[in-house]
Amino acid sequence: MNMMPNNSLSPQIMPIEENDFTRLFEIEQAAHLVPWSLGTLKNNQGERYLNLKIVHHQQIVGFAICQFVLDEATLFNIAIDPAFQGQHLGALLLQELLNQLKAKGIKTLWLEVREGNQRAIQLYQQNDFNEVDIRKNYYPTPDGKRENAVVMAAYLA
Ligand SMILES: CC(C)(COP(=O)(O)OP(=O)(O)OC[C@H]1O[C@@H](n2cnc3c(N)ncnc32)[C@H](O)[C@@H]1OP(=O)(O)O)[C@@H](O)C(=O)NCCC(=O)NCCS
Repeated sequence: MNMMPNNSLSPQIMPIEENDFTRLFEIEQAAHLVPWSLGTLKNNQGERYLNLKIVHHQQIVGFAICQFVLDEATLFNIAIDPAFQGQHLGALLLQELLNQLKAKGIKTLWLEVREGNQRAIQLYQQNDFNEVDIRKNYYPTPDGKRENAVVMAAYLA
């Protein structure tokens, strides 16, 4: 019987590093309806961010970009490679982010999500986010129209 530990096979969550961007941008383009540019991805880094990647089977399969100011934070982006969606990797990443934010003393995590993105909305509702506002015609759509944003918040205290 093989008694080797299989830690490298279970998903691991780690801070994003400089040489991750090529892979992160691939996931960004595959996962989002209207993806960020590589420049936007790279600009949303720094000391006011808590940015995490999730690694599964030794490759990056998703990431989260979160900015904090005083005791509030905003989740700007979360994406899982479509080939790996539906395996609870998004939930795992979000829960780890929430734990790390709590440990930093953050009290509220805000986010905006497309009204039609029911998969993401369900993930957020399962993790104690509440809908607090609707921003009318906030997001562009690929066909040149606009889509409402749902503003959600989770209280971490
Ligand atoms: C939203 C996203 C991050 C979720 O990641 P994921 O790994 O696919 O989600 P999980 O497998 O962890 O599922 C978590 C919950 O999401 C919901 N969900 C996942 N797949 C779903 C599907 N096909 N249909 C409906 N709900 C779904 C479920 O509530 C699920 O929990 P459950 O299986 O216990 O019921 C991922 O789908 C993604 O990258 N989407 C594109 C980018 C995006 O929309 N990001 C959010 C922008 S605000």
